[in-house]
Amino acid sequence: MKITILGGGGFLGRKIADHLARTGALGGCAIRELTLFDIHAPAPLDAPFNVTCIGGDIAELPQAAIPPETDVIFHLAAVVSAAAEADYELGRRVNLRGNDALIDACRKLAKPPRVVFTSSVASFSGGQDAMLADDARQMPGNSYGAQKAAAELILSDASRRGFIDVVNIRLPTICIRPGAPNKAASSFVSSVVREPLLGLTTTLPVPESFKVWIASPAFATAWLLHAAAMDTSLLGTDRGLNPPGLCASVGDMLDAMERAMPGARALVQAAPDAVIANIVGTWPAAFAATRAPGLGFVRHTDLDALIAEFLANDLEPTRMMRGL
Ligand SMILES: NC(=O)c1ccc[n+]([C@@H]2O[C@H](COP(=O)([O-])OP(=O)(O)OC[C@H]3O[C@@H](n4cnc5c(N)ncnc54)[C@H](O)[C@@H]3O)[C@@H](O)[C@H]2O)c1
Repeated sequence: MKITILGGGGFLGRKIADHLARTGALGGCAIRELTLFDIHAPAPLDAPFNVTCIGGDIAELPQAAIPPETDVIFHLAAVVSAAAEADYELGRRVNLRGNDALIDACRKLAKPPRVVFTSSVASFSGGQDAMLADDARQMPGNSYGAQKAAAELILSDASRRGFIDVVNIRLPTICIRPGAPNKAASSFVSSVVREPLLGLTTTLPVPESFKVWIASPAFATAWLLHAAAMDTSLLGTDRGLNPPGLCASVGDMLDAMERAMPGARALVQAAPDAVIANIVGTWPAAFAATRAPGLGFVRHTDLDALIAEFLANDLEPTRMMRGL
């Protein structure tokens, strides 16, 4: 099996690559070759199969990133929320034209590859009172969400035409993201627990009652891997899935953090930020997410498990990365 990860140097791309390197297989098939593509060539990966790392712009995707006989493509390359809102041209270039380039490259293959596309909770709106049904309309409240929703439509149509075989996974906000704060408007969702768990102070731009739709990196990775191997005939023409994440208030998250590390909550200071609040305030706080579990996507467990996952997997790498 040949696999490509677009955005293979990013947070989730690397998690998927590490998983593939550990297991050597996807959906019961042995991996022969993995191509990691990102704006800068991703760091080499130690794996029991051949790994090629390529740097470049997805809007001008080189065919080498999608070699002949590619079976599966994880399409994660993106300009994330606040960055796409701040730079409209860049967001359109990467989040829209990148998909066109991907489809064009796939059309040169003899067989349509499975494409797992990471769409987002941000492609919906509804705000704090929302509980969105599986067939809820995508009404994005920002450019990033609009670009994700548009990309889903274009990729689904390419799938209908037989150029690709797509599964669009609308990921919740991933929490706890290791490393340092980034340009995503949702960056605080991770910072508010990650920084205190590292012994650092942090600020909270929204009230503690603010609810978020979240998933841990392990759940997100498991969903994307499942989407890569699932029977897509079960999806029919509706290629978009809302995976079964977790709805939690920031206060609930801080309580779980405090249970794991007493005293950590004192490191969080309120600092209301209207720009951030306006972006994340449009995102729905909860989804019914009933279709995905019926298709084998595992429902998210509780916040204590989410904190424990970070402490076990990502605390020490984050310390090392940041020289703490
Ligand atoms: N992390 C989350 O909370 C979350 C939530 C919902 C959806 N998503 C989506 O999941 C995907 C992965 O998210 P992530 O958290 O790993 O993000 P990330 O920013 O760590 O990874 C995205 C990667 O895309 C690359 N990229 C950006 N512009 C590029 C270009 N022009 N050409 C090639 N590569 C380019 C970046 O260098 C980066 O490595 C993204 O598509 C994101 O929109 C993430």
